[in-house]
Order: sequence, then C-alpha cells, then structure tokens
Amino acid sequence: MAEEILQASKPQGGVAGLSGHKVGSSPILMREVQGVETIRYTTGIGELDLALGGGLVKGSVILIGGEPGIGKSTIMLQLASVISHQYKRKLLYVSGEESAEQIKMRAVRLDADTENLHLLTTSSFEDVLAALEASYFEFVVIDSIQTVVSSELSSSGGTVGQVRHITYKLVELAKSRGITVFIVGQVTKDGNIAGPKVLEHLVDTVLYFEGDYTRGIRLLRTVKNRFGSTNEVGLFEMTEKGLVEVGGDLFLQQDTSSASGQAICAVMEGTRSFLVEIQALIAPTFLQFPRRNTNGFDHNRLQMLAAVLEKRGGFNLSSADIYLNIAGGLRITEPAADIAVCAALISSFKDKVIDRRKIFIGEVGLSGEVRPVSNMVARVNEAARLGMNTFYSPTDAADKRIKTFRIKNVRDLILFLDK
Ligand SMILES: Nc1ncnc2c1ncn2[C@@H]1O[C@H](COP(=O)(O)OP(=O)(O)O)[C@@H](O)[C@H]1O
Ligand SMILES: [Mg+2]
Repeated sequence: MAEEILQASKPQGGVAGLSGHKVGSSPILMREVQGVETIRYTTGIGELDLALGGGLVKGSVILIGGEPGIGKSTIMLQLASVISHQYKRKLLYVSGEESAEQIKMRAVRLDADTENLHLLTTSSFEDVLAALEASYFEFVVIDSIQTVVSSELSSSGGTVGQVRHITYKLVELAKSRGITVFIVGQVTKDGNIAGPKVLEHLVDTVLYFEGDYTRGIRLLRTVKNRFGSTNEVGLFEMTEKGLVEVGGDLFLQQDTSSASGQAICAVMEGTRSFLVEIQALIAPTFLQFPRRNTNGFDHNRLQMLAAVLEKRGGFNLSSADIYLNIAGGLRITEPAADIAVCAALISSFKDKVIDRRKIFIGEVGLSGEVRPVSNMVARVNEAARLGMNTFYSPTDAADKRIKTFRIKNVRDLILFLDK
C-alpha cells in the first residue's frame, strides 16, 4: 500500500490530462483528422534502433528500466553523443544521481561528443521545468525518475505519487512541444513498487535492460512500443568504451573443446534467432531423491523431458542427478529447445560427444513425439550463417547448406546420436 495525495483543485488530472487533451472535447470525424508524419531519427546504434522499432520517434516518451549498474546511464550518454554529433540537436541531460564531474568522466571514457549536451544536476523537478521553459531542447534525459522530486506533492522522491506526477508532466510536455523524453527508471531485484511498472501505461515505449554481469552481456528488451513491435531484443556487450553491439553467436561457448553433454539449438527472441548451447551433466546420485538442477531453463520442463527419456527412450535416470545449464546467461522459455535438451542429456548419459556443427530444433511431447516449431526459416538461416551443417528436426531445413535428419520421435534421436 502506498500513500497518495489527491489534489481536488485539478479537475483535469488523471488520464484526461494526458497528451495535452482539453476537458470539454467533442467528437470529430476521423477522416477530417490531419495525418501527421512521424519523424524518426536513427540513433546510429543498430541494436537500439531495433529495440525502438526502427529508430527514435520525435515527441515520444521512452522509459528505460533496469537494475543499478546495468548500463542505463551509459547508453543514454552514447545516444546523447549521436544526437549531438550527427543531428546537432540540443539535448538536456538531467541527473539526480551523479555529479557533473562523474558524468564528464564517463563521457571522456566513452569518447562522447558533448558539443550540444547541456547538463543539469538537480533533484528538483521545478529546475527541470525552468530549464525547459528558458530554452528549447529537442531531447531530454531524466536520470533517474526516482531521484527527481516535485515540490507540488508533499511525498518524498521515488514514491508512486511522485514518479507518476512527474511522468504525467513530462508526457504533456513531450506531446505539446515535440520534445523526445527519455526516462531512466531504477528497478531493484525485489521489484521496487514505485519503480517503472507504474509508468508503463503512460509512456510510448518501454525498454528493459537485463543481462549477465559476469560476461558483460546486456539485452535491451522492448516490453511496450506504440511505434513498433514488442519482444524485440537489442544485444550489447559492456566494455570500457561503453555498450558495443554484438552478433548472435554470443551465446555459444567461445572455446570449441568438445565434451559430452552439449547440444546447440536456435531459439527466437522477438524476430531474431540466436544459437544457444545447452549443457547437461548426468552424474550418479547418492541421494534418495535425485537432484534436478536447472539454470536458464524451466525446472518442470526438464523433469518432463527426463521422464519422457526414461519412459519412451529406456534411460534409467532415477539414480542420477541431472544438471542443466544454458550457456551465456540466456533464459530459454520456448519449447523449441526441447530436443536439444534431450540431445544434451543423451550425450551426457552415454558420454558421447555431439559434433558442434549439429543443430537440434523441435518440441517434445509426452508420448515422445517431436513437433515442428515456428520461425523455422529464421532459425535455419542463423544456423547456416554460423556454419552449422546438420539439422535434427521434424521438418526439412530446406536450405542447401544444411543436411536434415528427420526426427519424429525421441527414439529417432537416440538412434541418430548412436551413429
Ligand atoms: N572503466 C570501465 N570499463 C568497463 N566497464 C565499465 C567501466 N566503468 C563502468 N563500467 C560498466 O558500467 C556499468 C555502470 O553503467 P551505468 O550506465 O552507470 O549503469 P546504470 O546507469 O544502469 O546504473 C558498470 O556496472 C560496469 O559494468
Ligand atoms: Mg545510472
């Protein structure tokens, strides 16, 4: 429960006050509405453009959420640099978290162009409004929404009332003056209630940063977009020079030394496909209830696949611990990886290495049948691009570069792996 102060003096508050709509509007004929062309800026950062649905829309409000240290301020500064350098547009960077010196240091480290970048270090929202009143900035970055406080409300910064009030105001400004606004929102691991979740319906685009800290991999995921498709993912690696775009082979193990228990699958994230390595280890257990450990894969799904192998494939797994790991810190949520998981399990069980140019795609059902999955063309293309030459799946790869072995059932898979 969060306290919220309602202000009776503002009848147009709430949703009616959004996007500059006036109280007392009447219906108009749709065909008389003047079409407006959306102006898009490409950011020069391909992965960011992809996440934004093909570039930045002028006058839109974009929320970028993520845990502390994931790289929100970094990508904002890299974007600011492009806007300053390529488009020569004035940009206001509001920071309530860091000092001007700290931001300068980061800008130097990133080699950012700061020619048209104006810095405002404050935690007062009134200062921000005054700055926007005094001069026209086409782009504004608020880093972060939790550290900016409006004196119109008595509640303290970061509360639901504050972040919502400030976001309302920013949306109004964006729509009435054509300012593009970026709102940075901190998300804590335990899901801060005053965090970006309460703002999602107010803004045009919501991007979330996630990733694997140890390997520096960062995923920028589109959760909502009024100007493009959702579920897109931008892929980056965090380096000293900032976030660098990376290709889809990122999730494959870099060293190619082969061991048993590894199988490669192509999974979809949004409209793009990645090759992912599945690693399984089956070891004798000394426990009454054997262990089933997963990392990046659904635990229940693994239980099910192990049961299918046991019942339909004749493997005795009841006296073995099973560990399953998805390399690279990715989380697989689609069933297309089922047969790759089975292949990794079989490989570990029999201690037989699977060649790293084989790829497995298909969903496994309870009777052991293997079913086709969606987006086969995208998956096969990515596999061929990265040099895969053999395809195990219920459908044909239909690609000259890849030879297909039809797998209709887990028993077919066991036979093929024995060859
Ligand atoms: N000199 C450096 N070399 C490489 N990476 C760095 C360096 N300095 C900071 N970083 C990376 O930048 C991250 C902080 O990014 P930042 O944009 O400030 O995060 P956020 O704004 O999301 O809290 C650190 O977690 C670290 O991974
Ligand atoms: Mg930051």
